[in-house]
Amino acid sequence: MRSRGTVSRQVLPSLVLAGLLCSSSAQALDIEQQRGEALLQKMCARCHAVGTGGESPNTQAPAFRTLGENKLYDPDFVQRLQEGYSSIHRFMPTFRFEREDAEAVVNYLEAIQAPRKPK
Ligand code: HEC
Repeated sequence: MRSRGTVSRQVLPSLVLAGLLCSSSAQALDIEQQRGEALLQKMCARCHAVGTGGESPNTQAPAFRTLGENKLYDPDFVQRLQEGYSSIHRFMPTFRFEREDAEAVVNYLEAIQAPRKPK
């Protein structure tokens, strides 16, 4: 296959990586993070605001961008995603993530955390 005038498939991943190294902002989601986002959209979006904007459909459910570092860097978090997250809150159905998916999800969540505003 020849690519005409477009960025070749070999170059693209390294461009994405370079973008990621330069900024950890939500603008440059890598492929794994995009997969994490897609999973969350599918499984969680009916209650939680998944992305960088919008309100949660379920007013009790925190928007994912507000989870904050404490939650995301909790070493149990990835583990709990794999074991079924229902223990965390009662209204939520049990979810089980494969290890790779759990990591993709956390990766994405870390990327979208709203910058802390000084109050
Ligand atoms: C049926 C609605 C519903 C779905 C679906 C749902 N959640 Fe929740 N979630 C809630 C509610 C309500 C809360 C806040 C109340 C609570 O903690 O019990 C919450 C809270 C949370 C919290 C914060 C808990 C804490 O310890 O502070 C996290 C993290 C979370 N959800 C992750 C997820 C993930 C990841 C998914 C998808 C895999 C998901 N939720 C799907 C309703 C839902």
